[in-house]
Amino acid sequence: MRDVAIIGVGMTKFGELWEQSIRDLFAEAAIKAMDDAGVKKIDSFYVGAMSSGLYTYQEHLSSLMADYMGQIGVPGLHVESACASGGSAVRSAFIEVASGMSDIVLAGGVEKMWDVEDGTIVLATASDQEYEAYNGVTFPGLYAMMARVYMEKYGLTREELAQVPIKNHKHSVNNPNAQYPFEISLNDVLRSSMVADPLRLMDCSPITDGAAALILCPLDRAKEFTDKPVRIRGVGAATGPIALHDHKDLTRLEAVKLAADRAYKMAGLSPADISFVEVHDCFSIAEIIVAEELGFFEYGTAGKAIAEGQGTYGGKIVINPSGGLKAKGHPVGATGAAQVIEAYYQLSGKAGARQVPDAKFGMTQNMGGSGGSCIVHILEAL
Ligand SMILES: CC(C)(COP(=O)(O)OP(=O)(O)OC[C@H]1O[C@@H](n2cnc3c(N)ncnc32)[C@H](O)[C@@H]1OP(=O)(O)O)[C@@H](O)C(=O)NCCC(=O)NCCS
Repeated sequence: MRDVAIIGVGMTKFGELWEQSIRDLFAEAAIKAMDDAGVKKIDSFYVGAMSSGLYTYQEHLSSLMADYMGQIGVPGLHVESACASGGSAVRSAFIEVASGMSDIVLAGGVEKMWDVEDGTIVLATASDQEYEAYNGVTFPGLYAMMARVYMEKYGLTREELAQVPIKNHKHSVNNPNAQYPFEISLNDVLRSSMVADPLRLMDCSPITDGAAALILCPLDRAKEFTDKPVRIRGVGAATGPIALHDHKDLTRLEAVKLAADRAYKMAGLSPADISFVEVHDCFSIAEIIVAEELGFFEYGTAGKAIAEGQGTYGGKIVINPSGGLKAKGHPVGATGAAQVIEAYYQLSGKAGARQVPDAKFGMTQNMGGSGGSCIVHILEAL
């Protein structure tokens, strides 16, 4: 297997983007990535999207996107793994480059979520239709059950849980692409509208339009394109139960641990080596459970540790320097690719005011549904 590097990235702003269609968004990100890498022609591409059919009535993204990014003729593939579609696209591109089949491969993702009246229902197609969505529970309700059990089991307070979005919004202020780049207070969280008890609006990632794309190539060719390539050192993927009731423990996300263990093994690294991590904080409780599954904190302790400042600059590990899904936004198909872009910015010294100092290794964790699928990447500064 060949070593693989990232040589260029591009993304749109995240938000309510009424002036751009799904093709505009992906083409913008893809062309920016190609310009950044200085490549005019790619060998192949992968586009992650969770549900372009339901959100925009547009499928067949391989053909559409090849055309609109000026690459007609190249092979392309639409990758779907719910909210982990973007991370899965990056993993697919990695495999293609690592195998030696292609040299210059674009990986990205897109979602245009504001075009339908109730995006929450479309998202629920990634849950178990027969047992969950059909009975009226959507993702805020599923994660609310996880939060309730975690709070009971470990004594996490509502105020401590609120520190996750407070931290992520604080980080987002320095991210020009973020959907909600503003700080929020404890009062803002505790007084925001109740969505699914105990989760309030400020615990939830929003509905977002956006796209993100990266260019991958063999590590031994990377310096042809950039002085600052970033190596993809480890990749891990796993599936878990699609239905929440099939999890053995509602305070665990086993697929995250499986994916992380595989990525650590491939990279030859451990949690102590990682300086920052972009995690899938679709709801505030998710960040806490994921931080434990990735090995950064003991089970039952991450919520309190984050509330005490261990998840930000100067703490044990910087979690979500980009602002995370909560504040940067969560265009589901694009999120996993955008997380890897943040890691690329951090490890190539291009993260500006949100730069994590002296970072050698960073991690990204992208998850589908309530832990039904997970992709972890470990990246290395060169
Ligand atoms: C939480 C949720 C139900 C709120 O939807 P909603 O009740 O329809 O809220 P609205 O879209 O009407 O937004 C109300 C206001 O709050 C703002 N807002 C909405 N969500 C927000 C968020 N998460 N953070 C900050 N502000 C938010 C909106 O911009 C809007 O402001 P405005 O009135 O000034 O325009 C919806 O965002 C949601 O389903 N989020 C979860 C997404 C999800 O499940 N992702 C996949 C997870 S795996």
